[in-house]
Amino acid sequence: MAIQLPGDDVQAFSFKVWNYKMGEQVSLLIHLGDRLGLYRAMRGRGPMTAAEVAEASGTHVRFVTEWLLGQAAAGLLARTAGSVGDESDSTFELDEAGAAVLVDEDASLSFAAGAFRGGIAPETVDAIAESFRTGVGITYEQQGPSAAAGLARMTGPWSRLALADIVLPALDGVVDKLEAGATVVDIGCGAGIMLCELASLFPASRCVGLDPSETAIGMARERAAGLGLDNIEFEVAFGEDLRSDVGADLVLTFDCLHDMARPDRAVEAVAGAMAPDGTWLIKEIKSFGDFEVNRRNPMLALMYGFSIASCLQSAMSEPDGLGYGTLGLHTAELERLVGRGGFTSFVTHDLGDASNLYHEVRF
Ligand SMILES: C[S@@+](CC[C@H](N)C(=O)[O-])C[C@H]1O[C@@H](n2cnc3c(N)ncnc32)[C@H](O)[C@@H]1O
Repeated sequence: MAIQLPGDDVQAFSFKVWNYKMGEQVSLLIHLGDRLGLYRAMRGRGPMTAAEVAEASGTHVRFVTEWLLGQAAAGLLARTAGSVGDESDSTFELDEAGAAVLVDEDASLSFAAGAFRGGIAPETVDAIAESFRTGVGITYEQQGPSAAAGLARMTGPWSRLALADIVLPALDGVVDKLEAGATVVDIGCGAGIMLCELASLFPASRCVGLDPSETAIGMARERAAGLGLDNIEFEVAFGEDLRSDVGADLVLTFDCLHDMARPDRAVEAVAGAMAPDGTWLIKEIKSFGDFEVNRRNPMLALMYGFSIASCLQSAMSEPDGLGYGTLGLHTAELERLVGRGGFTSFVTHDLGDASNLYHEVRF
């Protein structure tokens, strides 16, 4: 049969698919802009030529020119054309909104550049493919050091910057307890960004962070030492191994119950370890248990990508894993799960975090 040129429907489908390839390539350019300080060099500087960006970032002008044009093509930088056919006098500008998303890691809840890791290691991709055959996924630790570091920078802004002014004030009586001196346990604490913030805001409180990832706990300990905190400790441990003599006034599980192979066992452990008037704050993905409703989220496919690459991997990393994955522990399911641990009060807060809800749980 003679080969024919593709029809309109195939071309339209092809365009849709190549758009995702464009996303992959632009993701690499964002990673390079973050890693090489290119965005930082442009922050608040107005229109700049490629030579000026190269000079300010200590990079080579030819590569920078290509990167700037790619960023302009992606709509992330504004380009003002210079001479036709010669880019040396064109200028490129990163505006304020761009700086909030791509530069301001220490001040902007919208900072996102840290999520762009420059791709996934080939051996991790192999392990992900293998999980489809075996039914057993890989843990966060097995996803490698760059996963823990990237995750910390991805969730860091909300975890750290929103804690004092947005998250804790939403909870009944928790700030007073923390000021007076409370016992706080952060399960699945990752690199400890949020718990270190909490420990430095409330020096009278004693904070314990648990995570099974040695890499993440190593980063958390380093962070705490760097900040000179003496009211915080970190342990390599599963949430389900939390001891029952802790008497925690505040338990935190941020973005991690759906990653656990057996969150039901973690619920039992929290129930055993929490003081009778304690609070459990659960941050979970905004998800509704119905694909069609979830479809209102324009980033839904991204969520499934995160799930296959990370969350579902971890949630299936044991043969008896419940396998919730990124979207599986929707609010109704979560309420049922914690209810089985004897928790009767379940209040959901939408605090303006685009991807997550915050659930305040008590006995
Ligand atoms: C998406 S990360 C969230 C980390 C941190 N809470 C944050 O908000 O950045 C999920 C974390 O859950 C941890 N985790 C996975 N299974 C766990 C378990 N059974 N008990 C405690 N933590 C677990 C992983 O090691 C990982 O650090």
